[in-house]
Amino acid sequence: MNVSAKTEEFAAKAPANIPDGVYAETVLAVEHYTDHLFRFRMTRPAGFRFRSGEFAMIGLMVGEKPIYRAYSIASPAWDEELEFFSIKVQDGPLTQHLQKIKPGDTVLMRKKPTGTLVLDALTPGKRLYMFSTGTGIAPFASLIRDPETYEKFDEVILTHTCREIAELKYGFDLMEEIRNHEFLAEVVGDKLKHYPTVTREDYAFQGRITDLIANGKLFTDLGVPPLDPAVDRGMICGSTAMLKDTKELLEKAGLTEGANNKPAEFVIERAFVG
Ligand code: A2P
Repeated sequence: MNVSAKTEEFAAKAPANIPDGVYAETVLAVEHYTDHLFRFRMTRPAGFRFRSGEFAMIGLMVGEKPIYRAYSIASPAWDEELEFFSIKVQDGPLTQHLQKIKPGDTVLMRKKPTGTLVLDALTPGKRLYMFSTGTGIAPFASLIRDPETYEKFDEVILTHTCREIAELKYGFDLMEEIRNHEFLAEVVGDKLKHYPTVTREDYAFQGRITDLIANGKLFTDLGVPPLDPAVDRGMICGSTAMLKDTKELLEKAGLTEGANNKPAEFVIERAFVG
């Protein structure tokens, strides 16, 4: 048996005794987008409740020990299954194994979800911006598929910036899924706008989202007025540098940061950054 086959077997194994506070769920589907990105769906435990946009600790048994990392739940709160969107890091403690999962394998999940990218943490507004880079689109994959988002906002703008075009595919697939969905298509209507950009390849829409906010191109392209704290709300999910730079731009436009216990005009997810 070679080393990688051995690793695959580790990843597939359910623990002999499932620890308290942990669910052991079955992988239902896996889709690989690039050498660095994949998505998987797994069973949802009966009784597991979360708010769209929250994250959970996802883990695998590696040898005798479970390894966990924070993952945004990418599926909406009403979905019978759970979806996650992940990077693959060749020597990543969890993702070197997680990238090898197949339908039928067991994935662990701690029972308590949490997070700040929830509708409850924002004060009422008209237009909701979701700013994401890379796998930071995951919590928004949940929120754009939740009818509550469209009850609370007239317009929802999802920006997704990646280095390369291939990395945008998950976002395009989500739009397609919504357009073809039996009840979401009607609920969403034309309220949702997708604004994908890349930074390291030629493409119709190019540049860091921070530059596109600062130079106003984002607003011109979308045909909307500049950021206004009276009507605009924001959610940000990406790398540490992206969070900081985007936050500064929103603050400059007069928006203030909120939290679950203190709703305001924008929120940031800090769980994924090291
Ligand atoms: P760039 O290619 O100019 O670095 P990463 O994979 O490094 O997390 O980057 C994902 C995307 O986020 C890339 O398109 C990257 O652009 C962009 N990005 C990186 N840092 C920032 C930042 N401080 N503000 C806005 N976007 C950023």
